[in-house]
Amino acid sequence: MNMPDLCIAKDRKKTNISFIENKEEYKPLFKGKKYFLRTYGCQMNVHDSEEIKYYLESLGYMAVDKLEEADIVVLNTCAIRENAKDKVYGYLGRCKHLKKIKKDLIICLCGCLMQEPHEVEELAKNHKYIDIIIGTHNLNELPELIIQKNKEQIINVYSNSDKVFENVKYNRDSKISAWINITYGCDKFCTYCIVPYTRGRERSRKKENIIEEVKRLKEEGYKEVTLLGQNVNAYGQDLNLGYDFATLLEEVAQTGISRIRFVTSHPWNFTDEMINVIAKYDNIMPYIHLPIQSGSDAILKKMNRRYTIAEYKKLFNKIKKKVPNVAITTDIIVGFPNETDEDFQATLDIVKYCKFDNAYTFIYSPRVGTVAAKMQDDISMATKQKRLKILNDLVNSYSLESNQKLLGKTVEVLVSEVSEKNKNKVCGYTDTMKLVNIDGKEDLIGQIVQVEITDAKSFSLDGIVKNKVSL
Ligand code: SAH
Ligand code: SF4
Ligand code: F3S
Repeated sequence: MNMPDLCIAKDRKKTNISFIENKEEYKPLFKGKKYFLRTYGCQMNVHDSEEIKYYLESLGYMAVDKLEEADIVVLNTCAIRENAKDKVYGYLGRCKHLKKIKKDLIICLCGCLMQEPHEVEELAKNHKYIDIIIGTHNLNELPELIIQKNKEQIINVYSNSDKVFENVKYNRDSKISAWINITYGCDKFCTYCIVPYTRGRERSRKKENIIEEVKRLKEEGYKEVTLLGQNVNAYGQDLNLGYDFATLLEEVAQTGISRIRFVTSHPWNFTDEMINVIAKYDNIMPYIHLPIQSGSDAILKKMNRRYTIAEYKKLFNKIKKKVPNVAITTDIIVGFPNETDEDFQATLDIVKYCKFDNAYTFIYSPRVGTVAAKMQDDISMATKQKRLKILNDLVNSYSLESNQKLLGKTVEVLVSEVSEKNKNKVCGYTDTMKLVNIDGKEDLIGQIVQVEITDAKSFSLDGIVKNKVSL
């Protein structure tokens, strides 16, 4: 899928000024102005939004959480399923309405949906009120575009990139947990998935830069880092520098930061060395997100997932055996083209076998440009919805079962914030990534505490503090 010329910024006047060095110069232009940023999609987008916040706040914009108050709206979009796209278009309606009243409002769209040529063409043709369209490969050009903005719609999307960004600045959402990109893009080309097209080739950051970032975050007081990649196991393969994900993970562990997480692990190239490192270090959390997608070998083959169910089971059992108390979660797609009752039954069977701590389940959504989108499909939406319901009931019963096992036990929780539902409670995650609501006040935030579990539901636990582990 190549980007047509339309999508590539042409004749754009470069300011020729390094934004980073001259940001003070621009502040008077945007002083007192407000931005509203909305993020769709996965952790990659959440982290990209922290970069966007850095650019906007460096220009002088202040964050607001009401759309109506904004001078600039930025929608960081996702393209993974049709409903992700629908949400963006739904919200765009509100932005368009606001612009009718507020003529100077700048509307900016970025993120994965902007890497799809047909979407950008549609926006350029029928949504002229959008001011700036920028892709995932050149977010660093956003401040320039805002500075240059005049009446014309600016479309500035690069079709692909082999660039690896280092020294990116972020205004992070949390002072406790930080996201760290270790790889960009994806080369796996699962036949249903749009990500290789929207995020480009798989490319790794250099190990020393990642370690340096972890050390800096630790010095700043961060308790947790999550290493991000569409497939973290592929880390380093494109560099040919003699190191891989196991090497990286071990060095991150040796920095001594309290908690290390990573997402996502593809079952295909999960090596014994990686499992050994995870098992060896206490600060590597015993939690692995290991998407299975389907329980049927025939469907896995059509998905180009590169493993069989027998291989998945072998890996699953090896991890369970070697990593004490490990929690394993997964992703499952139902209703892949021509998924038979037998295929679906095989998915239920593998869920019963693995008893996942949690599973994210989706109805297959065809994405333009992918291989699967061209496959004939004779399964009705009603059947797909019925299958999803059956699967969800099963998955939830195992989530509840795994949570109930913790009743009366004491677990370590990194407290991250005040509970959304109850202001007299705080919440955080166990080492195995289970959400716990705890009776307590804000002073616990940022601390790792021992918590006794008093109640267990499918999606969360309740607990009381026994004592603090670290300050
Ligand atoms: N890189 C990760 C997942 C990225 S997308 C991995 O390979 O595991 C997150 C999840 O969205 C996928 O695991 C898959 O279950 C789901 N997904 C991706 N494309 C989809 C599509 N076209 N329809 C439905 N679900 C999809
Ligand atoms: Fe998509 Fe597959 Fe890559 Fe995951 S590994 S991002 S599902 S192509
Ligand atoms: Fe969506 Fe892009 Fe992530 S498509 S799931 S935001 S990589």
